[in-house]
Amino acid sequence: MTIYKRGTHEYYTSIPTLQSEVRRSNTGLKQAYRGEKREAMARSSLHAWATLALLGLLLSTGALAEDILFNGETLNTGEFLESGPYRFIMQTDCNLVLYVNRTRALWASGTNGRGSNCRATLQNNGNLVVVSGSDIIWSSNSSRGSNSYRLIVQSDGNVVIYGGALWATNTREAMARSSLREWATLALLGLLLATGAVAEDILFNGETLNAGEFLENGPYRFIMQTDCNLVLYVNRTRALWASGTNGRGSNCRATLQNNGNLVVVSGSDIIWSSNRPRGSNSYRLIVQSDGNVVIYGGALWATNTVQNRKRRL
Ligand SMILES: *[C@@H]1O[C@H](CO)[C@@H](O)[C@H](O)[C@H]1NC(C)=O
Ligand SMILES: *[C@@H]1O[C@H](CO)[C@@H](O)[C@H](O)[C@H]1NC(C)=O
Ligand SMILES: *[C@@H]1O[C@H](CO)[C@@H](O)[C@H](O)[C@H]1NC(C)=O
Repeated sequence: MTIYKRGTHEYYTSIPTLQSEVRRSNTGLKQAYRGEKREAMARSSLHAWATLALLGLLLSTGALAEDILFNGETLNTGEFLESGPYRFIMQTDCNLVLYVNRTRALWASGTNGRGSNCRATLQNNGNLVVVSGSDIIWSSNSSRGSNSYRLIVQSDGNVVIYGGALWATNTREAMARSSLREWATLALLGLLLATGAVAEDILFNGETLNAGEFLENGPYRFIMQTDCNLVLYVNRTRALWASGTNGRGSNCRATLQNNGNLVVVSGSDIIWSSNRPRGSNSYRLIVQSDGNVVIYGGALWATNTVQNRKRRL
């Protein structure tokens, strides 16, 4: 893998070389970029340790950890999802465990020793199961109708299954998730080196993107522009979707309301709405790695392990 390192105009041809170079020059890099305008920082100031931990992970494995499991997807033995310090792993002993800082277990399925080559699958009915051979040895018992479901390892330490897509930009691109990984790793690595920040890709209900703020996942950026248009870009240049509200207000902000409705507001006027209000519940707008922006509603199941309600914004 070839990685272009900003600032020095040197190319590194292997991860180990880059790892040692970055470790040595990390302080210098930070200083070098301190003067830059950091658009991303307002929205995404991860704690320094998390940035370093993620940077270390990227450099040591060349892989970007996912924090979302789509329905139909499986965590095989030894595989995990990760968000900041939270790791949700299908262990080789058949226990499905949520760790913080890789040491302290916050939640476990309690199925250790009850099977072999176990895997955890989020079924198309929203049910999370741990399976050994053809035996289901643990289930979240959260099955519903066939729909779009997402299991998310959240930055607050809670692992939640969300179900039923309420609204989407319908901009899903044909990119396979696995093939996106390497590209996203490079993009994120570049971002980390340039700004020391990792962008958020999820908006919780009750949260707002103010003018100029954005969510980002790999090449996809969902931004509340200062011209009042809410736009989804790929590679920062090509618009895939827009609310079409440019010039229709000032200091506009996009808020995911507690009823699951996404609104663009100028002053006290709602100038655009996703128009899918439901009952008060937990909703998440997610900029997905497949290029689709989706609002998911109604938590079906959770580990109930919230550690910190404060967002890392
Ligand atoms: C994880 O480790 C970090 C850094 O040592 C510490 O600040 C944080 O409190 C730890 N989190 C938990 C939940 O133990
Ligand atoms: C799911 O249902 C089974 C059968 O009723 C029960 O034994 C199990 O404890 C339930 N699982 C959870 C996570 O509540
Ligand atoms: C975005 O840029 C990357 C890297 O140049 C390229 O591989 C990818 O095809 C681009 N994606 C789109 C959708 O234009």
